[in-house]
Amino acid sequence: MKSSATIEALSEETRRFPPPPELASGANARPGIYEEAERDYEAFWASWARKLEWSKPFTKTLEWNEPFAKWFGDGELNASVNALDRHVRAGQGARVAYYYEGEPGDRRSISYAQLLAEVCRFGNALRKLGIKKGDRVAIYMPMIPELPIAMLACARIGAAHSVIFGGFSPDSIVDRVNDSQCVALVTADQGWRRGKKVLLKNNCDAAMKATPSVRTCIVARRVGDPVQMQAGRDVWWHDIVADSPIQCEPDPMNAEDLLYLLYTSGTTAKPKGIQHTTGGYLTGVTMTHKLVFDLKEDDVYWCAADIGWVTGHSYIVYGPLCNGATSIIYEGTPDFPDKDRLWEIVERYKVSILYTAPTAIRTFMKWGAQYPAKHDLSSLRLLGSVGEPINPEAWMWYREHIGRGRCPVVDTWWQTETGAIMIAPLPGITTTLPGSATLPLPGIAADVVNEQGESVPPGGGGYAVLTRPWPSMLRGIWGDEERYRQTYWSKFAHKYLAGDGCRRDAEGNYWFMGRIDDVMNVSGHRISTTEVESALIEHPKVAEAAVCGKLDGMTGQAIYAFVSLRGAESGTPGLADELRAHVGEKLGKFTQPKFVTFTQELPKTRSGKIMRRLLRDIAEGRTLGDTTTLADSTVVKELQERAASESARDEA
Ligand code: WT7
Repeated sequence: MKSSATIEALSEETRRFPPPPELASGANARPGIYEEAERDYEAFWASWARKLEWSKPFTKTLEWNEPFAKWFGDGELNASVNALDRHVRAGQGARVAYYYEGEPGDRRSISYAQLLAEVCRFGNALRKLGIKKGDRVAIYMPMIPELPIAMLACARIGAAHSVIFGGFSPDSIVDRVNDSQCVALVTADQGWRRGKKVLLKNNCDAAMKATPSVRTCIVARRVGDPVQMQAGRDVWWHDIVADSPIQCEPDPMNAEDLLYLLYTSGTTAKPKGIQHTTGGYLTGVTMTHKLVFDLKEDDVYWCAADIGWVTGHSYIVYGPLCNGATSIIYEGTPDFPDKDRLWEIVERYKVSILYTAPTAIRTFMKWGAQYPAKHDLSSLRLLGSVGEPINPEAWMWYREHIGRGRCPVVDTWWQTETGAIMIAPLPGITTTLPGSATLPLPGIAADVVNEQGESVPPGGGGYAVLTRPWPSMLRGIWGDEERYRQTYWSKFAHKYLAGDGCRRDAEGNYWFMGRIDDVMNVSGHRISTTEVESALIEHPKVAEAAVCGKLDGMTGQAIYAFVSLRGAESGTPGLADELRAHVGEKLGKFTQPKFVTFTQELPKTRSGKIMRRLLRDIAEGRTLGDTTTLADSTVVKELQERAASESARDEA
């Protein structure tokens, strides 16, 4: 059955969970919202944009000069005013914006009024240092309150921030800072991670040898160990804000002024500086945060991502603050001091909405249900997932062991480039299915198309695309208009190419199947890595799995599986055969992995994505490409040795 489909769709998930009636009856999104949005999607977005505070109201909604969009292009507003001042003026100044918990156990709660005062003090200090509207400021910090404060202070004075994830190396800082010519770098002395000190200022010192545009380095004191301060360049945060006033006039920004740059690495090429502007971005994140998480007045919301990724920008900083939410910021890792740290935090603050990633969920599965079981998680009412396709098995585990069977799980599909969630359930309306992001949100138009760009019929697989502009869409790649056109708008006419493989079922639900570059071709079958991985994870002994294609004389590519096991299980040839049989039964014989290598850990990026490019290199015995974005580089060597002996066995 060699089909013309771009990817074959093999698995069939039949479990479904309609919205709980209590949630449905009071949900923020009312039935009818999809139809309302479809009748006039521009008017729909304009009505959400008008919920923001504009110093100059817009009169135009969308100007679309493909592939360049302007949304609300003649309006003016300031992001920090929408995130802070508005709520304080409305009498909500005492409301908690962030409960902050440091890894060593230090805690602070920060009200909207306090956050506004800190943002103003830092904004004034930035202005005094000569930083002005239109400049770019790099921020390389741990997860401490000063991080969102620095972002919002930039937004207040009209400088664009470029947050660089605190786990990146000096080289990564250099590339990003130089690409956009940042004039300042904001960092901290050190940060805490799994009980160890991360030497942030040292990394900045190394980077600043090669970043001539940086005039000033501002250092927040977090850990307290001494650091070198270069006179004339480096200043302490606490010094520059010491006599800074707590009022700071916001710069009115055009809706299309740059709010921030965020670099996405992709897997190989030079990182792309994704551009997000002010009015449309805030509209997108505010609307999605309110509807997808069904945010209510008394919710305690926790997005357990790092602010260094877009998830943190949109759903720790801008979305929640614009909605006046109370959120958690946690500095450290989930296993410090023990593997129940997250559940302890949920219990302490009575978290009601939790948003995390499949890689984290699979790690919790591997550690075992006894850790969440120790804690009272009854405050939870909604669970979210983002970052990768979530395997049905992990989805069910999340629902049962964290949500205790009561909480809807919303799997949210989006990208750095989309700025906000695009495809996800509305928890009061949508029936959810384990492993599916379900449907495009109201106002969003998506499709799944074949190689020719034609919509694939129900049940088929292909390329995920977005078929019209949306307010929070990227406005381009910094300094590289051509790459923007090429990457996203050239494969199909008038369609944004997301780069993900996807299947759509008969009811229109979207099932994402991983990056299109990762699709394997075995005897002419185009097989999704996600489907084979999900089948493996379904086996009771498997905790995590990553598969890739390995060149094969017979079949073009053969499937290579890297498998990590639950708890005390050990990898034997017998178990490898058992796994092959299991996958074959679930998806068809031709999907059986030819190679199985057991491993403690899989190679992942610091954002938790499996590095399949690296796995392909390992599987094919090549020297490895760039490994600087790897979270833990020790896993790779062991894998190389095991893969070499696995291949030798095959050749023998
Ligand atoms: C890529 C974007 C979105 C914020 C974090 C990642 C994958 C993301 C899902 C999901 C299946 C997903 C896609 C996408 N992805 N969410 N719910 N189901 N895949 O942002 O680093 O820009 O990565 O992550 O492959 O293209 P990012």
